[in-house]
Amino acid sequence: MSLLSRKISELQDRRDKAVQGGGESAIAKQIAMGKLPARERINQLLDAGSFFEYDLFIEHEAREFGMEGKNLAGDGVVIGTGTINGKPVAIYAQDFTVAGGSLGSMHARKITKIMDYALRMKIPLIGINDSGGARIQEGVNSLAGYGEIFFRNTLASGVIPQLSVILGPCAGGAVYSPALTDFVFVVDKISKMFITGPEVIKSVLGEEIDMESLGGARVHSEITGNAHFFANSEQECFSQIKTLLDYIPSCNECKASPKKSIEPLKKFKIEKIVPVEPTKPYDVRDVIKALTDSSEFFEVQELWAGNIVVGFGRIDGRTVGFVANQPLVLAGVLDCDSSDKAARFIRFCDAFEIPIVTLEDMPGYLPGVDQEHAGVIRHGAKLLYAYSEATVPKITVILRKAYGGGYIAMNSRHLRADFVFAWPLAEIAVMGPEGAANIIFRKEIMEAEDPEAMRKQKVEEYKQKFANPYVAAAKGYIDSVINPAETRNYLKHALNVSQNKVVKRPSKKHGIPPF
Ligand code: HXC
Repeated sequence: MSLLSRKISELQDRRDKAVQGGGESAIAKQIAMGKLPARERINQLLDAGSFFEYDLFIEHEAREFGMEGKNLAGDGVVIGTGTINGKPVAIYAQDFTVAGGSLGSMHARKITKIMDYALRMKIPLIGINDSGGARIQEGVNSLAGYGEIFFRNTLASGVIPQLSVILGPCAGGAVYSPALTDFVFVVDKISKMFITGPEVIKSVLGEEIDMESLGGARVHSEITGNAHFFANSEQECFSQIKTLLDYIPSCNECKASPKKSIEPLKKFKIEKIVPVEPTKPYDVRDVIKALTDSSEFFEVQELWAGNIVVGFGRIDGRTVGFVANQPLVLAGVLDCDSSDKAARFIRFCDAFEIPIVTLEDMPGYLPGVDQEHAGVIRHGAKLLYAYSEATVPKITVILRKAYGGGYIAMNSRHLRADFVFAWPLAEIAVMGPEGAANIIFRKEIMEAEDPEAMRKQKVEEYKQKFANPYVAAAKGYIDSVINPAETRNYLKHALNVSQNKVVKRPSKKHGIPPF
């Protein structure tokens, strides 16, 4: 055997040993929990044969608490680069079979190395989290490692897409890296995210709660809004990641790959979806599907704050971000959560040069003590800020109701929409006709012989005068009143003519959004 052959064989032995992770029984335990081993996750997510791994032979530096000489394969995390749909990505996956995927200093250094690569090469970063958190034996060095990760998450924000995939526990301060990234993916029964675990809660508050109810996948998809995509299996989760990456660009200076323009499916007849009665609900996703290529729509945060719908579709082959009031839920009102949800999505689209199409049909902000005390002023302001700040092409279509502050907030001309179109049924006013008539004609109604008849008459008068799109059209606040059937053509044209849009803003270090 030549020297080279011996060295290659030694390399192979070392590789074989290193990829065994925490050993057979730990891997069997992982699989028994319904979880894939770290490398298997990467292989299933990336294009076949595209993964190149780095720092396979890294060794931990812990010396205390019996750690000296302990073999922790790759220090509990796998890092590398590969491709998804042919496009390069950087990835790390924590290996729970090695010391519970806990984060020691070398483990953190591997993660920060791949984050630095991603930022330098301007490619998306995907982090698969499956970890017991800071490695207890390494004390402050583990905490320092987290700090280095959080700092890089912040630097990379708005430069490269950052995706966090929660495929196991993600406990303590460790949850803040996902929270700093753009999209968080969770899988039912597998993902757990919380700041303080059930044991701490029991000892401090005396309350018993299981991990699933505290911070399981459903909790973060439906209640907290921390997760953006919910899947029933790891495989479904990987397919969601591939779809998302197909819609978005690899960096803030790249463009999402255009596709062939394919007409929407005939079953989505746009003129039949929205009822003429202003209070009758319908699913705004059907309107979106009547506008997008092949009627495809990839919804973000589908299970949270359902009164607003956000997500990606394509028009004429190009990616568009949709923000749409959802009359099916709470009549599509704006509230704290829906404002948060839309504002963050708008900022993502703006950072990555994705044009925004806004579909408007809502009665305004949700009234009530609960909302006021939950801070609807501050949260609602996020939406105003995000739309005003965004410089990507911004197009609004007013489908039906556009009342009050909501009219302004939903990408009005006044926040610098590039195009505002309204359907003939649109009502653009300070408030709905009933409320308005009751206030401005209160005296006439009270003093009338038949107050109810007078009220009806005044409501009708108000409707005739203000509840239509022509008052706004007369002022140029909307550009065209259009036939619903013309909407896709108007959008195609507006997106086409906006491609070279350039906006200069006053020079500043950064704004101070209300978050
Ligand atoms: C060192 C750890 C560890 C940790 C788990 N392990 N967490 N080792 N540091 N943080 C080890 C276990 O000792 C065990 O080693 C192996 O990983 C598997 O763990 P199990 O407990 O057997 O697994 P399981 O029953 O599935 O429970 C998983 C778990 C639990 C729920 C995550 O391990 C747990 O509660 N861990 C501690 C979570 C935690 O409080 N972390 C610190 C959070 S504070 P052996 O050798 O027996 O196989 C934090 C601060 C970050 O992270 C601050 C950033 C700003």
